[in-house]
Amino acid sequence: MSREAEPYRIKMVEPLRKISKAEREYALKEAGYNPFLLKAEDVYIDLLTDSGTGAMSDQQWSALMVGDEAYAGGRSFYKVKDAVKDIFNYNDIIPTHQGRGAEQVLFPHLIKRKGQYVLGNMHFDTTMAWIELNKAIPVNLVINEAFATDKEHPFKGNFDLERLESFIVEKGAENIAFIIITVTCNSAGGQPVSMENVRGVKGIADKYGIKINFDSARFAENAYFIKQREVGYTDRSIKEIVREMYAMGDFLTMSAKKDAIVNMGGMIAIKNDPDLYAAACASCVPMEGFVTYGGLSGRDLECLAVGLREGIDVEFLESRIGQVEYLGEELRKRGIPIQWPVGGHAVFVDAGKFLPHIPAEQFPAQALCNELYLEGGVRPVEVGSLLLGRDPETGIQKKAGVEFMRLAIPRRVYTDRHMDVVVKALSNIWDRREQIKGLEFTYEPKVLRHFLCRLKPTGE
Ligand code: F0G
Repeated sequence: MSREAEPYRIKMVEPLRKISKAEREYALKEAGYNPFLLKAEDVYIDLLTDSGTGAMSDQQWSALMVGDEAYAGGRSFYKVKDAVKDIFNYNDIIPTHQGRGAEQVLFPHLIKRKGQYVLGNMHFDTTMAWIELNKAIPVNLVINEAFATDKEHPFKGNFDLERLESFIVEKGAENIAFIIITVTCNSAGGQPVSMENVRGVKGIADKYGIKINFDSARFAENAYFIKQREVGYTDRSIKEIVREMYAMGDFLTMSAKKDAIVNMGGMIAIKNDPDLYAAACASCVPMEGFVTYGGLSGRDLECLAVGLREGIDVEFLESRIGQVEYLGEELRKRGIPIQWPVGGHAVFVDAGKFLPHIPAEQFPAQALCNELYLEGGVRPVEVGSLLLGRDPETGIQKKAGVEFMRLAIPRRVYTDRHMDVVVKALSNIWDRREQIKGLEFTYEPKVLRHFLCRLKPTGE
């Protein structure tokens, strides 16, 4: 695959430190075999997340200096509002400290009764948590191809439209709180949703009078995939694609820490619903802060306004997604099983296939994460049965559709040489994969356990 060079040059650098293998072994044991509990300075290449870890541009850093720190009605708020109107064509925004802040403020106004369903392609974990905390039931209706990691499909984040409609018919439209379209679909491997599929969801939503929310953390990457892969969109700009897609939704929640390339921030945006906006504003004040700052400094908002526009630059997207593809292709060449095609922000390794001798309840993807840290100082994250947790009713461990190890690539941070380090480390592990052991808990928190749990290799 031929790629253009990065459309930027590097003006500031941050030194990296690589500790010895013996030190890594010690650090991982101290961290209870949970990479979340490692000290970041003990990590060489940090692929834990692409969230809030991107490098801001010179334009963003200089915008920081002109942030308006007024408590109410600050200039920086209006710059974000203008950018959102321009890119998404939504009228109202409420800034929040990050994506989950937006979910916390908005969802109670959309969930009318206990036991309603919130239908998604595949909900992100905090999204699922906020649905459950509001006593509703999250349902994932992504197409089956999402779980067939070696099967070629251009839009593995798509809704299964038949299942969506039959679910609504079976449960009754009055029992559906709203629909969430997550673009790209993180939990399925950063997989995009096609415009055609959004159109299909919109048709069903309209038929039954159900509103649509876009979970918009990676909206620009999704638009780039549509431009690349969907018939009729090659010559359209990213902004045109985004506007066409968002015209089919009613509101959005966004973690701005991804495609908007800021280190902290999020928002709610509402297309045209003054009552919902007023209700969400009333919740925002006690939860996140006054409605023109929502937990952010004026300078954060200023950087966000710039980042939203940089995030939809097609040359940037080509280089960013090109790097993720490069990593995926190099791994695939070596026979390492990954979600294919690769997603926008990360390569998802199929750890169930990599380590078939480790059962789901011994967390093969977490075992692989730990091994990659030990081998190369690289920190990935588990997106499998450990993250999924137990059934709240029965306490039985749920089994993930795929045991993924996610290698999330921060934006504008690492070079392809860093990707080569990851490839080499993972190839070395591939050659001795039979020796890797599963894990068992020594401490298991009740809620969102994967962040703070402690583990040990089985039989040790
Ligand atoms: N929705 C999606 C699709 C996400 O990926 C995330 C966060 C959120 C919502 C919540 O946003 O973190 O700003 O509160 N994903 C990060 C990740 C944490 O590593 O994928 P947040």
